[in-house]
This record gives sequence, C-alpha cells and structure tokens, in this order.
Amino acid sequence: MGDAREDELTKDRTAEEPGRRSFFGSLFKSVIALWGLGFFGVVLSYIKPPTGRRAESNVKRAGSLAQLEVGGATLVQDPRQPFWVIRPSKDQLIALTATCTHLRCVLQWNKEQGRLVCPCHAGAFDLNGNVVDGPPPRPLRSLPINTRGDTIYVKLS
Ligand code: FES
Repeated sequence: MGDAREDELTKDRTAEEPGRRSFFGSLFKSVIALWGLGFFGVVLSYIKPPTGRRAESNVKRAGSLAQLEVGGATLVQDPRQPFWVIRPSKDQLIALTATCTHLRCVLQWNKEQGRLVCPCHAGAFDLNGNVVDGPPPRPLRSLPINTRGDTIYVKLS
C-alpha cells in the first residue's frame, strides 16, 4: 500500500517537471529575445542617419548679414568645426573650414589679399579654398551656406 502511494507521488513530481522546465525554458527564451531586441535597437540607432532635430543641429547660425561688411569675414568657433564666413561682394557669401590642412592651425582672414593665411607656416588659401601658397597639402572644405532673413546659416558636414 505504501509503495503504491510512493509511486503516485513520484508520478505527480514527474508530471510537474515538464511544466517547470517548460516555464523556465520560455522565460529564458523571453530574456534572450528582449536582449536581442535591445541589441538590434542599439545597432539600428547607430546605422540610421540622424533626422529631424539631430539633423537640424548640424546647421549652425553664423551671425547677421547686416553686421558682415562687404570684403569682411567672421570666424565662427564651433567646437566641431571652426569655419570662416566671408562676404567677397554684396550678394556673395562663402563658408570655408578654418583649420589649415597642413598642421591644423586656425587660419586668419587677410582682407587686403582677399585670402585666408596660416600664421604657423605661411600657407594661404583663396576664396575657393584652394592652396595658393605654402605647405598645405589639400584645399579647405567649402561648407553649404544660406540666409533666412538677416541670419546666416552654415551646414556642418
Ligand atoms: S599649419 Fe598651416 S601652413 Fe603649416
């Protein structure tokens, strides 16, 4: 009689085992699936180009058109990319990167010569960013520029 009772209890325990295994198996799969989704989200946010507000943050206000005289220039010290905004004529605006392509000194505007000059080794660049003198190996990058009302905007790339 005791053996029959013991067999019955053993049957009950073995009947519970698959249910418990199944539960923990499902829990484990759920945790792995959630981890996978999180990982996929991180990878996707890294690959996907910025849109909306983040993309807009690449557009930098670069001063007022009224305050930039013809023949003048203004240096914008953006921490990501310092650049020059130059106004060669009333209707023309140019934005060029402000770091020399030789050893990255910050360039200076020479109004009389109408070009950007490097204080470190006398490199010089014309209004198209081309090297016209000295050791710089590459031209400067030209940045997209436009105005809205009186405000000048430059897109950093
Ligand atoms: S750093 Fe500009 S010419 Fe050398």
